[in-house]
Amino acid sequence: MLGLFTKKANTLLGIDISSTSVKLLELSRSGSRYKVEAYAVEPLPPNAVVEKNIAELEGVGQALSRVLAKAKSGVKTAAVAVAGSAVITKTIEMEAGLSEDDLENQLKIEADQYIPYPLEEVAIDFEVQGPAPRNPERVEVLLAACRKENVEVREAALALAGLTAKVVDVEAYALERAYGLLEAQLGAGHDEMTVAVVDIGATMTTLSVLHNGRTIYTREQLFGGKQLTEEIQRRYGLSVEEAGLAKKQGGLPDDYDSEVLQPFKEAVVQQVSRSLQFFFAAGQFNDVDYILLAGGTASIPDLDRLIQQKIGTQTLVANPFADMALSSKVNAGALASDAPALMIACGLAMRSFD
Ligand SMILES: Nc1ncnc2c1ncn2[C@@H]1O[C@H](COP(=O)(O)OP(=O)(O)OP(=O)(O)O)[C@@H](O)[C@H]1O
Ligand SMILES: [Mg+2]
Repeated sequence: MLGLFTKKANTLLGIDISSTSVKLLELSRSGSRYKVEAYAVEPLPPNAVVEKNIAELEGVGQALSRVLAKAKSGVKTAAVAVAGSAVITKTIEMEAGLSEDDLENQLKIEADQYIPYPLEEVAIDFEVQGPAPRNPERVEVLLAACRKENVEVREAALALAGLTAKVVDVEAYALERAYGLLEAQLGAGHDEMTVAVVDIGATMTTLSVLHNGRTIYTREQLFGGKQLTEEIQRRYGLSVEEAGLAKKQGGLPDDYDSEVLQPFKEAVVQQVSRSLQFFFAAGQFNDVDYILLAGGTASIPDLDRLIQQKIGTQTLVANPFADMALSSKVNAGALASDAPALMIACGLAMRSFD
């Protein structure tokens, strides 16, 4: 072995606990090139996670144990994320030149001014952004806070599978980090564009608009692939599992395409279009350079083409792995088909290299 992609002691598994599955990804890095060391996805029992909240700790813990065994990774530390909607962020100014510890102490004293919950119930994090625009003696600090129970329930689920949560991130930040990998798809200069990333999951569709590589807008809608699964179940009398499988592997009656899939795709176009209208109405933008599709539902064949044709904006399916090497133990075909659903897991795994 060359040992080109040396594993450092601080490798973190990126673990995305979403509403329908747990997704695990391990990356290594050599220079600026990443390699997928391990990955796996395991379904969650229905209602184990409801609208981003872990409702059944045991069920999630067991799925995590399975995903870990499937991925065959020896890493025991992980980065997980809480949903953006569970987090309050504020940019505040503080004295420049304070040490990390002093900043933390100072923040603990001041934080109650900014956070509408009792401090003993919240977990706080912060990051110095840079000098304050109007006062070089002060720095801008991004303060993020969420209820401790959101963090603790994730730590507990990981612990059931023998994992330690070293990093608890925010989904939107993980997405932003993974977005940095899309240069292979969007070309150089993508960090200066305005790009709409539309994550269409099972129950939720999240629009994130990035401008110069930073998230400037997010909006969640209750819409997703579950609607298509339910329509397949209803029409062809299948169980959830059968319908979910048929969606990916085909084998449905001839009228599926015209009677079920096509109308669903039209509904997706409408959702994307409406979300963009909300974004345009909210600010100073009336156009985006690209639409990037993420989430499992983005894997529906030709959805990107339909959106591009109907909305008139270049549309691509996000693939954070386009430029990565793959370990021989990773199933390349499966990874390619899951790629758009792995943006958050990817952004989390990248925390290994901070
Ligand atoms: N190849 C495919 N073709 C069609 N649909 C697919 C395919 N692969 C996955 N899906 C669908 O994508 C959805 C799962 O996507 P994803 O993993 O992004 O959701 P999630 O993150 O668990 O859900 P949410 O974001 O709503 O919490 C499911 O509805 C699944 O049936
Ligand atoms: Mg999701």
